[in-house]
Amino acid sequence: MLKQPVLLTHSLQLPSDSRLLSSDFTFGVATAAFQIEGGATSRLKNIWDTFCDKPSTIKDHSNGLTACDHFSLWEQDIDLIASLGVDAYRFSISWPRVIDKQGQLVKDGVDFYNNILDKLQAKNIKAYVTLYHWDLPQHIEDMGGWLNRQTAYLFQNYVDLISKAFGNKVFSYATLNEPFCSAYLGYEIGVHAPGLIGPEYGKKAAHHLLLAHGLAMQVLQKNCPTALNGIVLNFSPCHSLTENPADLAAAKLADQHFNQWYIRPVLEGAYPDLINQLPHAHRPDIVEGDLAIISAPLDYIGVNYYTREIYQAETQQGFQKVMDKPLPLTDMGWEIYPQGLSELLLDLHRTYKLPPILITENGAAMPDKIINNTVNDRQRLDYYQSHLLAVDDAIRQGVDIRGYFAWSLMDNFEWAEGYVKRFGIVYVDYATMKRTIKASGLAYRNLLNSRPHRVSHSIG
Ligand code: FCB
Repeated sequence: MLKQPVLLTHSLQLPSDSRLLSSDFTFGVATAAFQIEGGATSRLKNIWDTFCDKPSTIKDHSNGLTACDHFSLWEQDIDLIASLGVDAYRFSISWPRVIDKQGQLVKDGVDFYNNILDKLQAKNIKAYVTLYHWDLPQHIEDMGGWLNRQTAYLFQNYVDLISKAFGNKVFSYATLNEPFCSAYLGYEIGVHAPGLIGPEYGKKAAHHLLLAHGLAMQVLQKNCPTALNGIVLNFSPCHSLTENPADLAAAKLADQHFNQWYIRPVLEGAYPDLINQLPHAHRPDIVEGDLAIISAPLDYIGVNYYTREIYQAETQQGFQKVMDKPLPLTDMGWEIYPQGLSELLLDLHRTYKLPPILITENGAAMPDKIINNTVNDRQRLDYYQSHLLAVDDAIRQGVDIRGYFAWSLMDNFEWAEGYVKRFGIVYVDYATMKRTIKASGLAYRNLLNSRPHRVSHSIG
């Protein structure tokens, strides 16, 4: 009897003619300030510090005061990043570390990031800097946070000062990371900081975030015209539980709320038509000229993708998320659905006139165990394998995708889930702060180093 070949994916494989292997495709790893830095005594308080101090907000009752102590260990962390063979590192700036309550630069905070940027440059790693990854200074929240239009102008001032201070060290800026999460999770359902709950808040906060993005783009294009300046949005394709018209309409409605609400104003200067169906009290406060500011041309759009969602009809809100998900699931309980990534990219490509796309986050939490200094995270490796092929597929079908960043470089503070959910391709032992590259990290490194231009480079 013939034995079936066993497919062992201890490595990551791409077809030899894949565009992902070309020298103009960028591979990186990603992190965010609050999730890894710690060093909380050297910065102002932010909304996540306050949120973590409230009871029952974070699953393991943890906080970001120490996190992965990247604040102390940044040099060895950049050596680690370099050892993975990446082209780029995506990280975020902590606004409350670099700007004081008077809106002026803080020298020590700016030095911290300038040192990181210098070391990245010395290692030939491109810096992809996110300007807002959710850690709003608390004193700004005390004035209404993203519900206050003024916050958008405070953000513009911060971006103006910091982008001048960094000079030409930054290869690419992202104004915001996932405004959906800041607005909806933070101000509408309250599972993220600042924890406000009310259907009237979400879209108002979203509008001020998008305005902040547009205002920031103005100063970035002026201060750093050679950097690639854009925004990072998250998407979960919305599928319908059945083919019933009511379920199909429910899925479409959810898509308008959660996905199109953010990309359409940025690319087309208009909110989805859904805006006209919202109760007046839930609508954003739009001032004339806002949408022109919000839709300033972008050098790229960052796409974060983890999973899809399934919806069914429901009478009150019009849609309801199906909680019983098809298997397999990650440790977050998110369905592993790689075809959703190619579908999403093609869908965006067909719907909009897109700038170049970067996959700025993709990855999976898994219940990792470290045994004899080894983390055999086979399921995460399979997740990366299938999603890289989905990106390859979308490129073959005509989508202009220029880069891919694994979320995350290392295990870190996973927001409301605390430290229990591990997304890293590097394992962090929080007792000792020791970092150990997981099997997925080793495979990622091998893939990156085996790219034809890398191999010829090291030989030549
Ligand atoms: C995204 C966030 C990122 C990380 C991943 C798992 O929504 O941008 O910080 O928490 O999810």
